[in-house]
Amino acid sequence: MTAKLKITGGNPLCGSVAISGAKNAALPALFACLLTEEPCELGNLPQLRDIKSALAVLSAMGAEHSDANGKTVVNAARLRTTVAPYQLVKTMRASVLALGPLLARAGEATVSLPGGCVIGARPVDMHIAGFEKMGAEIQIQNGNIVARAKRLRGANIKLPQPTVTGSENLMMAAALAEGITVLENAAREPEITDLAVFLNAMGADISGAGESTITIRGVDRLHSAKHFVMPDRIEAGTYLCAAAACGGDVFLENADLSHLSALAEKLRECGAEVLNCNDSGDDGDDGDDGDGDGDGNSENKKRGARITMHNRPRAVDAVTAPYPGYPTDLQAQWMAVNCVAEGCATITETVFENRFMHAPELARMGADIELRGNAARVRGVASLSGAPVMATDIRASAALVVAALAARGTSEIDRIYHLERGYATMEKKLRALGANAERK
Ligand code: EPZ
Repeated sequence: MTAKLKITGGNPLCGSVAISGAKNAALPALFACLLTEEPCELGNLPQLRDIKSALAVLSAMGAEHSDANGKTVVNAARLRTTVAPYQLVKTMRASVLALGPLLARAGEATVSLPGGCVIGARPVDMHIAGFEKMGAEIQIQNGNIVARAKRLRGANIKLPQPTVTGSENLMMAAALAEGITVLENAAREPEITDLAVFLNAMGADISGAGESTITIRGVDRLHSAKHFVMPDRIEAGTYLCAAAACGGDVFLENADLSHLSALAEKLRECGAEVLNCNDSGDDGDDGDDGDGDGDGNSENKKRGARITMHNRPRAVDAVTAPYPGYPTDLQAQWMAVNCVAEGCATITETVFENRFMHAPELARMGADIELRGNAARVRGVASLSGAPVMATDIRASAALVVAALAARGTSEIDRIYHLERGYATMEKKLRALGANAERK
């Protein structure tokens, strides 16, 4: 019997929740610890299934880890093997991020070829081509990527597509390569920048992260460092979509709206008010605000993002694109908002080839969605009806949560292990916003 999430919807969301550390920044940071034999300390790791999977892969290789005071210390001093086993990699395809660090640190790596997943074939040919340009010899044997390199050489690599984990893998490998590597058409996601900050803290020499061209000057060795993982912009975006669909007044502590400009624009277009409360800049009032430290800023002014929505959302189109475009990881959630919006919207998925698995499940709740290739035409309905539905992948399940919160009546979302790969204690966070949600 798989776990379910039972939600009785129809209420506005009011209150505040803390946004956790970003899964897609935490995963590369964990594998980056393989680049040094000294211990590294990571803060703000989200409590997620995928993080546990990544730690299991590291442990299988001989890297030790320990948790204390909300921090995780990873010590890859003694690697027992440079093999990432299929049994573990198949549960989390981001394990391919072990490839770059192992090649750079140990000169060899055997990582199971990550299979596809429901949203697409998810090839890693661009990762492999980049490593080969850096002098690695790579073979595919019995479903494994087997890579060897005496010492990687810096190279000019022009990526055919701005692959996120491809850019991360190559950036980590180049950090210890001999010479300079220039990654062109690199992904610009904030998680890339977050990884570069950690690598530079370890002694790497990386510039341009967050832009399309990243320059990495290889160094001989990296050392221990501490890193506090950035907040999860996709988790934050998911709760923003939920508030847009249900109405209400929600504060997302730690959320950084500067990572969500494309979504914020659509939220405002659909009728929500969205505020970035991160501007801790001096408000010009040098008077004491009564909290005793006279800094003109009230200490209890938490940093984050706030959304208020008092009407039914208006329908707004979306076309997904690599960052800073509209994120593919928020496509499903935006479709759920448009299911209850006033008017019609077209949602176009340009990044993955099969990322509309949530559409038939939303239709079970009364949504009016017509799929045409990589576009979905959504005609908003006055209200959805609760229904038993099934999660198929991590962000599709998030879309079902958004829809269930907005729907009249009760929904039961099955196979929520998909949801729990990317969302920590979601039922608790939803209850903090006044939602009627329980994990069964
Ligand atoms: C990362 O996946 C994220 N995962 C995904 O988040 C996210 O959806 C995706 O980037 C796009 O933003 C992590 O960061 C762990 P890509 P990644 O390489 O790196 C093609 C979630 O929900 N491609 O940027 O695997 C690929 O098929 C997950 O948290 C190649 O053809 O995505 C896709 O069409 C889902 N060859 C496009 O590029 C390659 O070698 C973008 O993929 C690599 C990619």
